[in-house]
Amino acid sequence: MDVLEAIAARRSVRKFKKEAVGKDKIETLLDAAMHAPSAVNSRPWEFYCSDKAEVKAAIMTAHPASKILETASWAIVVCARPEWQPKHNYWQQDCAAAVENILLAAAGTGLGACWCGCYPSQPRTDEVAKAIGCTGIPVAVVAVGVPDEAPAAKGFYDPARVHFI
Ligand SMILES: Cc1cc2nc3c(=O)[nH]c(=O)nc-3n(C[C@H](O)[C@H](O)[C@H](O)COP(=O)(O)O)c2cc1C
Repeated sequence: MDVLEAIAARRSVRKFKKEAVGKDKIETLLDAAMHAPSAVNSRPWEFYCSDKAEVKAAIMTAHPASKILETASWAIVVCARPEWQPKHNYWQQDCAAAVENILLAAAGTGLGACWCGCYPSQPRTDEVAKAIGCTGIPVAVVAVGVPDEAPAAKGFYDPARVHFI
């Protein structure tokens, strides 16, 4: 699948088969995440990954909109470390780029994934940080698994939003 096909194929998948996803496949997604651009190449991110039921349950309690972790094989929490980018304030965007790379890599490798936003909602960020024991700021919880649904395409090209100037 080329990059444009993966972009077009990507959808938020919220229903997953009861099938395990190997750690190697998650590492492929993390490799894609860490190829994302970041301001001054500061890479202000960390990734907390788990396929353990108790960890996913703790995240779901902390972040009720991430209930889809019930059927997902893995939770990947993308956490920001703003202090690694002291002179700039682009870490939210850097982490968002990493999240999108995870979603595209999932689509391109036959996995399903869904972005569940954390930052800037408080106390959600604090609760998720407590649940996973991280010192950074949880920007997003990404649910990953073998898709058990194929949502219809939502994205489309809208010329009204385009301004060639
Ligand atoms: C910042 C952000 C936060 C989101 N948070 C959630 C969430 O908490 N729960 C959820 O089910 N989907 C969440 N989504 C997924 C969106 O609902 C989804 O991307 C949107 O409906 C478009 O559908 P698509 O991803 O299939 O194109 C989030 C997406 C973004 C970008």
